[in-house]
Amino acid sequence: MSDQPDVELEARLAEQEEFEPPASFVEQANVTDEDIYEEFEENWPDAWERAAELLDWDSEWDDVLNDDDEPFYEWFVGGELNASENCLDRHLADRGDEVAIEWVGEPVDETRTYTYNELHREVNEFAAALREQGVEEEDVVTMYMPMIPELPVAMLACARIGAPHSVVFAGFSADALAERMESADSETLVTCDGYYRRGEPLDHLEKARDGLGNVGHDVTTVIVDRLGDERTVDHRESELDYDSLVDEQQGADVDPVVRDAEDMLFLMYTSGTTGKPKGVKHTTGGYLSYAAWTSHAVLDVKPDDTYWCSADIGWITGHSYIVYGPLALGTTSVMYEGTPDYPDKDRLWEIVDDYDVNQLYTAPTAIRAFMKWGKQYPEQHDLSSLRLLGTVGEPINPRAWKWYYKHIGDEECPVVDTWWQTETGGMMITTLPAVSNMKPGSAGPPLPGIDANIVDTDGEQVGAGRAGYLTVNNPWPGMLRTLYKNDERFINEYWDEYSDPEADEWVYFPEDGAKVDEDGYVTVLGRVDDVINVSGHRLGTMEIESAIVGVPGVAEAAVVGGDHEMKGEAVYAYVITEDGQEENDAFRDEIIEAVEDAIGPIARPEQVIFTHELPKTRSGKIMRRLLEDIANGDELGNTSTLRNPDVVHEIEAKVRGD
Ligand code: PRX
Repeated sequence: MSDQPDVELEARLAEQEEFEPPASFVEQANVTDEDIYEEFEENWPDAWERAAELLDWDSEWDDVLNDDDEPFYEWFVGGELNASENCLDRHLADRGDEVAIEWVGEPVDETRTYTYNELHREVNEFAAALREQGVEEEDVVTMYMPMIPELPVAMLACARIGAPHSVVFAGFSADALAERMESADSETLVTCDGYYRRGEPLDHLEKARDGLGNVGHDVTTVIVDRLGDERTVDHRESELDYDSLVDEQQGADVDPVVRDAEDMLFLMYTSGTTGKPKGVKHTTGGYLSYAAWTSHAVLDVKPDDTYWCSADIGWITGHSYIVYGPLALGTTSVMYEGTPDYPDKDRLWEIVDDYDVNQLYTAPTAIRAFMKWGKQYPEQHDLSSLRLLGTVGEPINPRAWKWYYKHIGDEECPVVDTWWQTETGGMMITTLPAVSNMKPGSAGPPLPGIDANIVDTDGEQVGAGRAGYLTVNNPWPGMLRTLYKNDERFINEYWDEYSDPEADEWVYFPEDGAKVDEDGYVTVLGRVDDVINVSGHRLGTMEIESAIVGVPGVAEAAVVGGDHEMKGEAVYAYVITEDGQEENDAFRDEIIEAVEDAIGPIARPEQVIFTHELPKTRSGKIMRRLLEDIANGDELGNTSTLRNPDVVHEIEAKVRGD
């Protein structure tokens, strides 16, 4: 492993704080005119029509924006379209034989290529199969699948028949699946037998079946055979084989259902402040326009490109920037099943080389790992096809940014550090790669049409360099419309903090802290709610706490995020046991297992710290800030307002292992 600093890079780049867009990139970029910011400002909201115009509509919208019932905004009102038609049918005449999805399996040499014609065919066949199983418009279909092509096929098949999908990340646990299926009243599940991880076939069906055991209504399950001979599945009643269903529908034609712009395209569950995940609702017209527009303007996607986003489709990044954005633009989207270090740490670079990838969009956690592994891995491959690099999901430190820029992009590719969320549907704050200079560590200015501000607790804008709260003042087409069947929570979660309904002022609060510099560049500092970000994955501390207090012998628990060199943040669990419960490693393991069962291995605590008390204010509120400081080994803030100041030092000694 090479963790040697690159002397030349350090010397030349360390001091440089601003980078101009490379001339070779600017020459060919989709968006090059800096007046676009002004244009959006002067012509708002109509300027957003340019996003909608990237799509084909069955009937054009009457109004760009309806804000009569704030904050329940509607975009491209009266417009009608179908998302699968936009991602498939409209490309067939000119690009039917071009590749839509290049799928790379984890086992070396296992690949599959879907042209637009082929993808269109299979989507039609599976759409017909879903219909035959009784799936109707508006029925929520759940997908619990790893990175295999049948996942985007199933998503587009749902879109075709107007059935919203809800994709549950395959790394989530059986309980997490059950909770999401119940919440969405979802009666159809598409899953698979297993998949490969570091060369080993992994059972996935058992988890899916376990989850279904906790769903209180009947579910029809479709099982994709991913592992072939590696695993034979005896289907139970109500379990159907994907291949047989598709075979039975060979050559089927399913007319894309005409959907209203505001009809739900999908639900995506994400973690919030309470123990219950939030079902974020995205729509057909606004979301798809936004995903296509940001793919065009920020990722510079063109139909002839081979574009790769290495996220998992189980998260919003994969929805917007593996499936909907790139396919709406008719490009080739690469999908990789496995991990970046299998069979060796050059796997990603091998794929970039083999497929001549033009854009790579990944997460800072991955970049930190590449940096740790060393530049010799990318150096083994020809990466000159790359034109643009992107990052998403968590703050990127300038050193990792510069490493990415130099060793992957060869100083020829702009790096877009894109801030956004499940709720925003697409990118919100990032440089336009051919327009603005880049500043490592800062995402950049808000995109044209996005009115983001940094404010204090009273909602007043704070000056340059001061930390505050990130807010967004105007609506945008890709925004969530509500939380599934919970308008009240939608308002409480996002609009309560800074809006003034009497004055008709509605301000979206993403629950992130940020600061802005004198040029209007935003540096996002991280969540200010009880959500932590582990390797770019969003986890609710309350969800983890409720799993821990469910373990017999646990009296109370507090979970916080502590800094982690590779993962960004890691889970620290402070646990008070009941009298008589032994505080040993076996009990620690039981707690860890309970978290993995409730959420999944991504939420696995880095440390479980037993304590007989938690630091609390006089009113009984747990002082999480202090627990974070302890986890990070930081100087502790003021402890004098605590009811029990002594406990802090006790806990500190335990974490340090004294
Ligand atoms: O805290 C911000 C962080 O990730 C959160 C959103 O998580 P999720 O909904 O899972 O979506 C992740 C992928 C879009 C945000 O509230 N975040 C995302 N991108 C960045 C970021 N923090 C800093 N810089 C970013 N570029």
